[in-house]
Amino acid sequence: MRIFLTGASGKLGSALQAALTARRHEVIATDVDRIDVTDFAATRDAIAEAQPELVIHPAAWTDVDGCARDPQRAVLVNGFGAQHVALAAAAVGAAVAYISTNEVFDGRASRPYLEYDRPNPPNAYGYSKWVGEQATITLNPRHYIVRTAWLFAHGGANFLHSVLNAAREGRQLRVVANEVANPTYTNDLAEAIAALVETERYGIYHLVNEGACSRYELARYALERAGLGDTPVQKISSHQWSRPSTPPPYSALANMAGALVGIRLRPWQEAVDTFLAREQPTEQSR
Ligand SMILES: NC(=O)c1ccc[n+]([C@@H]2O[C@H](COP(=O)([O-])OP(=O)(O)OC[C@H]3O[C@@H](n4cnc5c(N)ncnc54)[C@H](OP(=O)(O)O)[C@@H]3O)[C@@H](O)[C@H]2O)c1
Repeated sequence: MRIFLTGASGKLGSALQAALTARRHEVIATDVDRIDVTDFAATRDAIAEAQPELVIHPAAWTDVDGCARDPQRAVLVNGFGAQHVALAAAAVGAAVAYISTNEVFDGRASRPYLEYDRPNPPNAYGYSKWVGEQATITLNPRHYIVRTAWLFAHGGANFLHSVLNAAREGRQLRVVANEVANPTYTNDLAEAIAALVETERYGIYHLVNEGACSRYELARYALERAGLGDTPVQKISSHQWSRPSTPPPYSALANMAGALVGIRLRPWQEAVDTFLAREQPTEQSR
């Protein structure tokens, strides 16, 4: 398939590029340097020129605290950007896959959120991504909405890197224990999305590694498995971690729709083990 990919140098975008290419799709990889999705004409022209059969749109403003400080910009990039992509894809007869977030849910549930549960975004980032979902659903009937959570990836900075680096440098670790979601490995997610877009079973999907935990449990697990289990970690509550955004306290997702088409991700613990094994050479050279 000929696939136009936005955000190709981001954490998920780069894993997607690799997974799609490995499945012998033709990938037109773009990033903000080539098209800024807030620019409708540039987005429309780039997609018209590429004539893809599918557009996958992971590009986003993912700085949740930045979004809280500038909610209008969040909606511009994550909401209107998605509108531009969905319209441009529809104009050339292409399907569209929009990558969304667990933060469209308010986090007050007592069980993992299913695909058809009602969103109620608790913060500016979640709201902007919900706007992007609505635009995509409304403007392009051949859509996949893929919600995911707590990504960890090789390269760049993420929660696992921060925890492991802090432990190695002997810095004090304070980790929130009352925020729960699904840690998800970008390589597993990219494989799952690559499989999903070949099904033409359009709709809303929750693609996350199986199981959920708190940030504290995730930190403890990664430290144990990286041989840093003696590191003291102070358990704190989200109220003790002051930040501009308000994360949902419980935003675990359940993958019902993906399972129905045979797409399941392995448990998050196994994914963290694989991630750590692949990071090992880098870690040993430090
Ligand atoms: N990270 C998570 O834990 C998480 C959780 C749930 C859902 N998600 C969703 O998953 C998707 C991928 O997340 P990620 O963590 O891989 O993101 P990321 O690493 O921040 O990558 C996002 C990419 O989008 C690009 N971008 C930003 N503004 C743009 C614009 N106006 N036009 C075109 N490109 C633009 C960024 O370029 P620059 O870097 O140059 O700005 C970056 O390459 C996002 O849609 C996000 O909302 C992420």
